[in-house]
Amino acid sequence: MIEIQNLSKRYGDLIAVDDLSLHVEAGELLVLLGGSGSGKTTTLKMVNRLIEPTAGRVMIDGQDVGGIAPYELRRGIGYVFQRVGLFPHMTVGENIAISLTLLGWPPPRIRDRVAELLELVELSPGVSADRRPSDLSGGQQQRVGVARGLAAAPHVMLLDEPFGALDPLTRDRLQQSFLRIRKQLELTAIFVTHDMAEALLVGDRIGIMRDGKLIQIGTPRDLLRSPADDYVRQLIETPMRQAQVVDALLEDTSS
Ligand SMILES: Nc1ncnc2c1ncn2[C@@H]1O[C@H](COP(=O)(O)OP(=O)(O)O)[C@@H](O)[C@H]1O
Ligand SMILES: [Mg+2]
Repeated sequence: MIEIQNLSKRYGDLIAVDDLSLHVEAGELLVLLGGSGSGKTTTLKMVNRLIEPTAGRVMIDGQDVGGIAPYELRRGIGYVFQRVGLFPHMTVGENIAISLTLLGWPPPRIRDRVAELLELVELSPGVSADRRPSDLSGGQQQRVGVARGLAAAPHVMLLDEPFGALDPLTRDRLQQSFLRIRKQLELTAIFVTHDMAEALLVGDRIGIMRDGKLIQIGTPRDLLRSPADDYVRQLIETPMRQAQVVDALLEDTSS
């Protein structure tokens, strides 16, 4: 479905993304995981041409995205930005509907769709479409960001740390509703995070990036059983160890 072939991006001497190749199956959710500056956002933005690659290409459904007009391409790809990026002077509804307005949907149809999306991301009935983003909590704003990405019913979603910078409980609730939405809409998605626990929760497979390179890709089990190097081992063992500690504590208290 999504095929990334030898993709690179250079900024002068800096190689932000270095000869990266991977594929995402239809209906699959691939997590890209890596530290800050490892090239995750740059990779994601090359999929929908917010950034043009220096070398390599991205194919979607067998078509080179380089040959598709960007507005055409983005119609079929939902994008959830890092740090949400809602427009403060627009209402929640206008933010969600931005792509639909660009597509020329008539206002009544937009209103219906916005109501449907507010329900889908579990903001309805508490949050009305004519509120301003600044009236909402961080978690609610993140939900609006996800609703905006889903507005035009894309078959591909790109999500850039969509639940970053939230308290653990809010984050957990958002992850759970995202898992439900994902299943319901049968999305094919690339989901960027720097949090391994989140990666394990949402990902069918996880690709680990470091210094612009993909150093390993596989199922959580693959990564755990045969980590490519110590970095990967540490990344995956940390949440596993924490889970074991919690398990042990629970065992203790139940006996
Ligand atoms: N427009 C740009 N000009 C120069 N360097 C950039 C630009 N965008 C990103 N970079 C650099 O490319 C590297 C990868 O960035 P990015 O893809 O944003 O990483 P991540 O999302 O994993 O934190 C970083 O070193 C970053 O500073
Ligand atoms: Mg980033």
